[in-house]
Amino acid sequence: MRGVVLLICVLLLVGASYETFWNFPELPPPSQYGNFLLNRTSEKAGQKPAIFSHWVHRTRYTCRVCHFELDFAMKTGDTEITEEANLNGEYCGACHNGDIAFGHTEDNCDKCHNGNIDYGREKFEELSKRLPKTPFGDKINWSRAIRKGLISPKQSVFDDNYESIPFKKTLVLQPEWSMADDAVSVFRHKTHIRWLDCADCHPDIFNIKEKGTKHFRMKYILERKFCGACHYNVALPVQFCRPCHPKIKTKKY
Ligand code: HEC
Ligand code: HEC
Ligand code: HEC
Ligand code: HEC
Ligand code: HEC
Ligand code: HEC
Repeated sequence: MRGVVLLICVLLLVGASYETFWNFPELPPPSQYGNFLLNRTSEKAGQKPAIFSHWVHRTRYTCRVCHFELDFAMKTGDTEITEEANLNGEYCGACHNGDIAFGHTEDNCDKCHNGNIDYGREKFEELSKRLPKTPFGDKINWSRAIRKGLISPKQSVFDDNYESIPFKKTLVLQPEWSMADDAVSVFRHKTHIRWLDCADCHPDIFNIKEKGTKHFRMKYILERKFCGACHYNVALPVQFCRPCHPKIKTKKY
């Protein structure tokens, strides 16, 4: 036991070795980061799985639109999307109605039902050329893109005048693990409410009291809890330590 503690201390002193403690998810190629194949019912009903890309949609709509107003779950396969619901203007059909975006007509079925996780790659290459860069994930710095007005995604499909409550508090969270002083992390409400509704995070993911969230540890973040609910595979990825931990120094990330 003492040996293990000693080893951990040595690794911490070296600093570069945090990444060996945890299993980080494998990163897909940038054009596929945040892409998911929806296949709860498609193949059973004789269709190829439907492709959904976050990068396609987030240039025009914030997370809030889909994950608050339109009630999509933040877990692939959890939402019961059916063709009937789509045709009634719910889920994908809230926009894919031939008015806001291409509709549910015969010639469009395979724009969605193509089973291709890399669908739209050329469009992705074009988009990433004109937006600011970051080293990981889809390699697009979305925070900067929205701050600089290079994209202006809508916060609502129902209310053109919608504005978030102006809550801008920055939290500096001390690690529960006292050995890891350099792991202090920073959370800015200001940058998050440009994309999200308060209710996307409170009260389900985070307690609404600073340090009120129990078991707030990296281990659980890597199980897609807490910050990992979004940063595991859609927002800037968990591998990229520095934006969250300004003091951590690692070799790789
Ligand atoms: C904008 C994207 C989109 C378009 C266009 C689209 N679908 Fe779908 N469709 C979906 C999604 C998403 C699901 C749910 C996928 C899942 O979880 O398996 C779905 C589910 C289905 C299902 C299985 C569920 C059910 O309701 O039986 C069928 C069948 C289906 N679509 C047929 C079609 C046909 C036929 C067309 C063309 C006329 C079409 N879809 C066009 C997105 C689309
Ligand atoms: C145009 C609609 C739309 C927008 C905008 C959108 N999402 Fe999603 N998101 C979806 C759909 C659809 C799914 C799959 C839901 C399902 O299958 O139940 C999904 C799934 C997810 C998942 C689960 C991924 C997994 O591994 O299962 C996460 C996390 C997520 N979204 C986060 C975000 C974040 C963060 C944003 C804003 C940057 C965002 N989404 C913007 C529609 C959207
Ligand atoms: C809030 C509005 C909105 C919702 C909800 C939405 N989309 Fe879209 N989607 C768009 C817009 C706008 C575009 C760009 C349309 C265009 O280029 O004609 C788009 C483009 C796409 C494309 C790219 C097609 C291409 O050939 O470039 C796919 C695939 C797609 N959506 C699938 C889906 C699926 C599947 C769902 C539901 C799970 C969904 N979308 C939900 C608005 C939405
Ligand atoms: C999306 C934000 C985010 C990213 C990215 C992230 N972390 Fe964390 N991490 C946190 C939060 C929040 C905590 C809990 C509060 C704290 O300790 O600061 C935490 C905790 C920690 C701790 C304290 C010990 C523990 O288990 O809680 C260490 C060490 C740590 N992270 C290392 C890393 C390393 C190394 C990386 C990159 C490979 C990384 N983190 C990426 C948000 C993040
Ligand atoms: C992306 C997730 C996220 C969103 C969106 C979000 N919050 Fe928070 N909020 C947090 C986290 C993380 C904490 C700290 C929890 C902890 O330390 O246990 C927090 C803490 C708080 C606190 C307590 C601060 C303190 O000093 O004790 C308040 C109040 C709060 N949030 C209000 C809001 C409001 C109002 C909105 C919408 C305008 C909002 N939050 C949106 C993640 C979020
Ligand atoms: C509900 C989804 C969600 C949750 C939960 C979440 N984030 Fe984010 N975060 C985002 C989105 C969306 C962005 C915009 C940038 C992007 O998508 O890459 C972002 C951007 C950031 C950035 C870069 C912008 C900035 O503020 O410097 C940091 C750092 C960050 N998040 C830290 C955290 C930490 C720490 C937590 C947990 C306490 C957390 N996030 C929880 C969605 C989320």
